[in-house]
Amino acid sequence: MQTHTLLMPLDMHLHLRDAVMLENVAPLSAYSFSGAIIMPNLVPPVDTKEAVIAYKERIMAAVPNDFFEPYMTLFYKNYDKKFLLDVEEDITAIKLYPAGITTNSEGGVSSFDIEEMRPTLETMAELGIPLCVHGETDGFVMDREAEFMSIYELLAQNFPTLKIIMEHITTKAAVDMLDKYENLYATITVHHLLLTLDDVVGGMMQPHLFCKPIAKRPEDLDALLSIALEAHPKVMFGSDSAPHPQHAKESCGCAAGVFTAPIALQLLCEIFDQFGKLDNLQDFVSDNAQRIYGICPEFKEVTLEKRTFVVPENYGGVVPMFAGEAIGWAIESVD
Ligand code: NCD
Ligand code: ZN
Repeated sequence: MQTHTLLMPLDMHLHLRDAVMLENVAPLSAYSFSGAIIMPNLVPPVDTKEAVIAYKERIMAAVPNDFFEPYMTLFYKNYDKKFLLDVEEDITAIKLYPAGITTNSEGGVSSFDIEEMRPTLETMAELGIPLCVHGETDGFVMDREAEFMSIYELLAQNFPTLKIIMEHITTKAAVDMLDKYENLYATITVHHLLLTLDDVVGGMMQPHLFCKPIAKRPEDLDALLSIALEAHPKVMFGSDSAPHPQHAKESCGCAAGVFTAPIALQLLCEIFDQFGKLDNLQDFVSDNAQRIYGICPEFKEVTLEKRTFVVPENYGGVVPMFAGEAIGWAIESVD
């Protein structure tokens, strides 16, 4: 039987939520990942040092062992230098959301006034704190990410030493932007390596495939696959696994977010294997991220096997992507 081993897989964009949901989903990520960048879009958002520390403690209490590092983030606001110096040791990055653009982002940035943001972003650059960005405008849904490219350019030009991570990119426009500026990086989800808009709404509408940013066109999918499969050195895996209770997805007014954490590595093996690129997967799921963020995760060795794995119908009331469907790879062991 064919196997493939991954060392210290990292999920560079993960929603773990809080309370009962946190207790449900955190162990699933901690099982197969060495660590993850934890999104701060709780209600209220994680925007103080105390909130970061307390949230990290709740995450650690929710995982069954210590071999999982939650790399904490702060919800972007125009913070002053004193505050950033005080919180720097407790965070790995700061996450910027345009106001109201996605789940729990109401307190985000409402205008990209570079001069207003300059003190914060210059201090972040000086302290080596990366800026993770949800890059969408409030324009037409299929154009939101492409329209945001001018804001990425503005940020990249004005803050050339700030590491800017274009989160969960979904378009050829973002892929083309990556090499234009040295300080731009990107994360890619597993669902955006598999889906186009057709899969979401082309037949019967699929609420469990609905997320922000929405999956785009075939040419966008091809562009994402090309940089992921070659493990472009500026690209990292970030699942954007975003659990919502089943009733919030299967309802009139479906919440945005695809839940993939427990099946992400299996699907990545299947995709990379299909294209004969399994040798590049280690860079995509860990080594690039370690280098870009300068992090050294806890040791973990995950061995996957090429055999049928049927995705569970739900995980504690959360329906995963491809529930009930067969995947070609399964997790064989974790050491
Ligand atoms: C995320 C969530 O539910 O928190 N939803 C999503 O569709 N990806 C927020 C986000 O990352 O946009
Ligand atoms: Zn997200």
